[in-house]
Amino acid sequence: MAIATYTYESTWRESRKVNWCVDDLIGPDKSMDFSRLFLPDSLVRAADSGYLDLEQQLILNHIRANSYLHLFILVEAFIIPMVVDQVKQMGYGNIFATQALLGFAEEEGKHIYLFQQFMAALERGFHHHCHCVGPVEDIAREIGAYPPLSVLLLTLQFEWTTQIHYLESIRHRQDHLDPCFCDLLKYHWLEEAQHTKLDTLMAYGLVERMSADDVDAGLEGYFELVHKLEQTLMAQAKLDVLTLTEVLASASTPASCQILSKDQQQRLYASQAQAYRWAFLCTGVGHPNFLQVLEHISPNAKERAIGLTKALSY
Ligand SMILES: [Fe+2]
Ligand SMILES: [Fe+2]
Repeated sequence: MAIATYTYESTWRESRKVNWCVDDLIGPDKSMDFSRLFLPDSLVRAADSGYLDLEQQLILNHIRANSYLHLFILVEAFIIPMVVDQVKQMGYGNIFATQALLGFAEEEGKHIYLFQQFMAALERGFHHHCHCVGPVEDIAREIGAYPPLSVLLLTLQFEWTTQIHYLESIRHRQDHLDPCFCDLLKYHWLEEAQHTKLDTLMAYGLVERMSADDVDAGLEGYFELVHKLEQTLMAQAKLDVLTLTEVLASASTPASCQILSKDQQQRLYASQAQAYRWAFLCTGVGHPNFLQVLEHISPNAKERAIGLTKALSY
């Protein structure tokens, strides 16, 4: 088993240097600019359907941003109980681990509040109800019922995903992205960067205490969870198309009003499904640092993840 170059103590000390609060990112003095894209287009691929004009692509981008916030609330909702359970299992033998993990859980709670505040601001400015998968608690509970190693790996995958989302926002800053949403992606990643280390330490520690059969079951559970998440994302993609269809049909001016045909909705769903798979699954499952952790646990799991990333990229 490879040993990480960091420890619970060094990660805990490092995490104390990152210190921001939700009010710094969104509030009365910091509002979102609805004339701009919220998410980098590489995550949304609004033009891929081939028939949305620029105004319609902007609306789709805002719908996708709302779904982004909702989906990350869902992700945080299954992470918090997993981390708290790990604290209970580990006890207080390493007090730096205890402090680091409690800080980790507290930060995920802060992230839920961050996403909720952005969702509230988006709802105020968007003027339309956006459909979302749920209830979040039920989906999170189903995921949390999997073996701890499975949930830990899914968590680690999503943490590396947030790095790619932040990097995409840097790469596309010239596309006039909303500065508030760019800050959300940046400051979320800054704390997730510490979480990647804590999750890696937890995963290595967990595997050392597990039998080979239990490790195999944990890995199998992880791959099942990826497929479960894929189904959730596809359901969200369908709901995004429904929201866009409703928004365009209710547009106040004849110029912006458009009734999407069934065929157009189907094509839009197909392109959005692909965009979701890349943005939420391929970026994490195929992330080199995530693959490295998988390789330390099981070289076969790494190969399977590489194959899965290719299959999801189609
Ligand atoms: Fe988070
Ligand atoms: Fe996290």
